[in-house]
Amino acid sequence: MKNQGIPHDEFEGKPVIGICNTWSELTPCNAHFRELAEFVKRGVWEAGGFPLEFPVMSLGETLIKPTAMLYRNLASMDAEESIRANPLDGVVLMGGCDKTTPSILMGACSVDLPSIFISGGPMLNGQFRGKQIATSDVWRFDEAHRRGEITDDQLIEAEACMGRSRGHCAVMGTASTMACMIESLGLALPQNAAIPAVDSRRRTQAHLTGRRIVEMVKEDLTLSKVLTRRAFENSIMVNAAIGGSTNFVIHLTAIAGRIGVDLDLTDFDKFSENIPLVANIQPSGQYMMEEFYYAGGLPAVMKELKGHIHTDIITVNGKTVDDNVSKAECFNADVISPVDKPFKEVSGIAVVKGNLCENGAVIKPSAATPELMTHKGRAVVFEDIEDYKSRINLPDLDVDENCILVLKNVGPKGYPGMPEVGNMGMPKKLLDKGVTDMVRVSDGRMSGTAYGTVFLHVSPESAAGGTLAIVQNGDIIEADVPNRKLTLHVSDEEIADRKKSWKVPNLGFDRGYVNLYINTVEQADKGADLDFLKGKSSSEVLRDSH
Ligand code: FES
Repeated sequence: MKNQGIPHDEFEGKPVIGICNTWSELTPCNAHFRELAEFVKRGVWEAGGFPLEFPVMSLGETLIKPTAMLYRNLASMDAEESIRANPLDGVVLMGGCDKTTPSILMGACSVDLPSIFISGGPMLNGQFRGKQIATSDVWRFDEAHRRGEITDDQLIEAEACMGRSRGHCAVMGTASTMACMIESLGLALPQNAAIPAVDSRRRTQAHLTGRRIVEMVKEDLTLSKVLTRRAFENSIMVNAAIGGSTNFVIHLTAIAGRIGVDLDLTDFDKFSENIPLVANIQPSGQYMMEEFYYAGGLPAVMKELKGHIHTDIITVNGKTVDDNVSKAECFNADVISPVDKPFKEVSGIAVVKGNLCENGAVIKPSAATPELMTHKGRAVVFEDIEDYKSRINLPDLDVDENCILVLKNVGPKGYPGMPEVGNMGMPKKLLDKGVTDMVRVSDGRMSGTAYGTVFLHVSPESAAGGTLAIVQNGDIIEADVPNRKLTLHVSDEEIADRKKSWKVPNLGFDRGYVNLYINTVEQADKGADLDFLKGKSSSEVLRDSH
């Protein structure tokens, strides 16, 4: 410590605060975190603590292959062991891009020190040729590009117009969903979720977060005191009201598993019920996170939900939810609607079950086509993502708008890592006809920025021998979201017969982390954590060689 020029009395008897930083230039959404951490340090020093920033594995959605999700659990191990092994009294967690938030929170939960979160904040709205754009437009531009409606140059120009400031994706994609999850769980100061990354109030938030963690250490306000079952229920209700990403289900389940709260897939349906969509934000609505903040942000949403959520539970600032949200105001009812006059009645995550997904699958109704929520159609099957890519644009693909696209082997074990390909792009021949949505089923995930009538996270997945593995072209599948059913109309005998000739796919990963992952990852309905990482083992270090 002294070789860093730190005076002796700086660490004598002061709370040592770790700043767990997911900064990386390979994670563009978090590239401003070194600077943001300086503001956290100001607050820690001011409050009489001693801050020490440390790096952990950073997971950027845009660059990491085959998918950042493959490494979420690895990054969580890095965070957990770094927090436990070092002499820290409290931790400030800094996340932004999708997986950087759940990974470090999962790790921190397994240690259970006093911990507080500061998110990096969303980008400003993109501006493209007089139009506001954000990440959900990537999918629209891609389809327009495939139809020949925009040129290569326009696509490249649109990218620069979209990513015009620091911060993470500006829609209610997974990063914003995770930031809202953090705030609704009570793990950050109010307004953490939506202050834009470039807004000076993001720095103020960082400063105040640094101040607060020192007090939390003195109060011994550990994560498990905030993360009660009722905090998780609040988060599910808030996620429904904001139209949060389907990835929320997997990450929240994994976090619950670490802290020791019992959470079942059906809880997501149960607690979303009766919660309307109040946030008019893309991809379910029209606006972006910037307008969401100006309209009042998450406290304004939570105030609207006061008749539903638990308001007496404690949050990291030492106040209750009620204290934090009761004075919140909404400044634009078009962006955050009143709960009794909601933007949309349909919200949340619907959990379906049936012989095609015995342990469940999920769909986001607010991003789907209402007429397709009950639909029966002929399966058009792709055995894996390579098969899909090689055939989806063929003019002679045997598909029409009533068919159901099925994609196998993109689950946790199957890809491996469960990539965001479940919202498979539409067949070109249907796009050319002007069809914009159809029913799709897979064991993969979908980007929080995407939309469509897409059943995801089918469990058990095909690579684990789930029924999805034996679906054949021409089989009839019936989706019935109102009754929470997803059914393969093939007899039990025929399913059993087909399963006899099914073989475990050999993906050829015989060493290293990926091998460990394939052999220990749990299914999507359990949060896709590694089975041996569940639970927590305190901050105690049992042996000391110093
Ligand atoms: Fe990082 Fe979207 S790419 S949040």
